[in-house]
Amino acid sequence: MIVAEFKRVFDIAPSVTGFTPGRVNLIGEHTDYNGGNVLPTALDLGVTLALAPREDGLIRIWSDKFDGIAERKMTDAASDHWSDYIAGALQLARSEGFGPDGANIAVTTTLPFGAGISSSAAVTVGVIRAAAGLSDNSLTDTDIAVLARRVENEYIGMPCGIMDQMAVAIAKPGQALSLDTKYLEFGLVNLPETHHMAVIHSGVFRQLNEGRYKIRKEECDAVKAALGHDDLCLMTDAEFASLAHLAAPLRRRAKHCMTEHRRTVAATVALQKGEMAAFGVLMNESHISMRDDFEMSVQPVDALVADAQKFGATGARLTGGGFGGCIVACIEKEKLGAWRTALLDAHPDAFWVC
Ligand code: GLA
Repeated sequence: MIVAEFKRVFDIAPSVTGFTPGRVNLIGEHTDYNGGNVLPTALDLGVTLALAPREDGLIRIWSDKFDGIAERKMTDAASDHWSDYIAGALQLARSEGFGPDGANIAVTTTLPFGAGISSSAAVTVGVIRAAAGLSDNSLTDTDIAVLARRVENEYIGMPCGIMDQMAVAIAKPGQALSLDTKYLEFGLVNLPETHHMAVIHSGVFRQLNEGRYKIRKEECDAVKAALGHDDLCLMTDAEFASLAHLAAPLRRRAKHCMTEHRRTVAATVALQKGEMAAFGVLMNESHISMRDDFEMSVQPVDALVADAQKFGATGARLTGGGFGGCIVACIEKEKLGAWRTALLDAHPDAFWVC
């Protein structure tokens, strides 16, 4: 399908094709730039791309979601355009010595944009992996994820952590990636057959680069300065007590980072043991922490999470960067149909993602 589209648009065959999934984070929010753990899983939905190299400094991009062909130069700065992620990824691959000097690229996606399920990480990881596939090199999945994060941080200007890129580069659907973001050590945990990790959009759209994510990051930086080290998530109870002089919102941010990391570690153990009731309680507690301490939720999301829990989910919480976007709920498969109908009926603005 992608090969046929590519040939139709560019009149030649692609040199490389690939699929990169989206991700949903089960628990561990805003811990990935604070030295903590995360537990995302890959989705069935994702981005498929095909690429053929060019050597004239041009990038020509066709997408099933936008009209026409976007044309960019390998020297272009970011311009707040959907093609920025592709241009930035190719430029970085080139400057790292393995990518071509331009490309024809076709992209199809089943990931809704702006939903907070990492369409941008899927695109940047996909492009860097495709560019790497053109030459002999020893890039690992972790190397590709680290480069993809650099595209966000340095080219796009989004100060994200490493979770999304690692999740989409490494995890497969049905597996959670237990990732230590300080050392980039990870393990894969199979999700239970008995439960579904449902992703539901709240209907509140937000863009991470609109600023609130950055404000939270800066607040965490202020706590790090007071603490004297960067591993906010790993602080001890005594260290947390030593922050009593900080303003109350900063202490709440610190508390979320410390407790969210501990919950994530506990949730990973619960998942490994198949203790889903315990896992669900940790998800619910995570939502309270995001709502009250990190203050990254909004009312429609809180209402959706509350009903998801009330209507029978094992656990439910806001997921991703926050301030809107999706919730993730762990629901027994035998309850899924009735639960989904009741929840969506009660929240007409919300919609099912997967
Ligand atoms: C976004 C960022 C991630 C992470 C989450 C919050 O998805 O891209 O790096 O910080 O928000 O957990």
